[in-house]
Amino acid sequence: MTKFAEMLRVDQAGEFGATRIYAGQLAVMGNRAPHSAEIAAMAEQEAGHREKFDALIARRGVRPTALQPVWSAAGFALGAATALIGPEAAMACTAAIETEIDRHYTEQLDELGDKDPELAAMIREFRDDEREHRDAALAAGAEKAPAYPVLFHAIRLGCRAAIALSRRI
Ligand SMILES: [Fe+2]
Ligand SMILES: [Fe+2]
Repeated sequence: MTKFAEMLRVDQAGEFGATRIYAGQLAVMGNRAPHSAEIAAMAEQEAGHREKFDALIARRGVRPTALQPVWSAAGFALGAATALIGPEAAMACTAAIETEIDRHYTEQLDELGDKDPELAAMIREFRDDEREHRDAALAAGAEKAPAYPVLFHAIRLGCRAAIALSRRI
């Protein structure tokens, strides 16, 4: 397993998880709740990120994470749970995840430098989208969610753990 294969594996896992979080949120909120339209738009971008990493992982013969079923369930549950708390908590979830993913992608880009320009270009493009998602979530009132600091930090920690696990397993 090369360094770049490991990066690709963890990133594919993350984009898959993102699609599951938004699926969980939309399952609870439907398409008429406040922020449903924003969530649906972000979900569509995540599906695009996921498709591109799926294609690259297949083309390069990288084994996807064995934890996919876990991320599928955990992502959906996180999305549904935050949406049940309310639309602002759903936005707090996005703010937390995307803060962590911005950090993660930026770290990877530093590590990649000018090696593997194909992967780097994808990561850079997706990172810019994730930053927009974070800013949109904050603009939509993420910080007004109940117990925002606790929620924000707990989700960030969970996201970090998922990254660490997907790297190895
Ligand atoms: Fe994404
Ligand atoms: Fe995102």
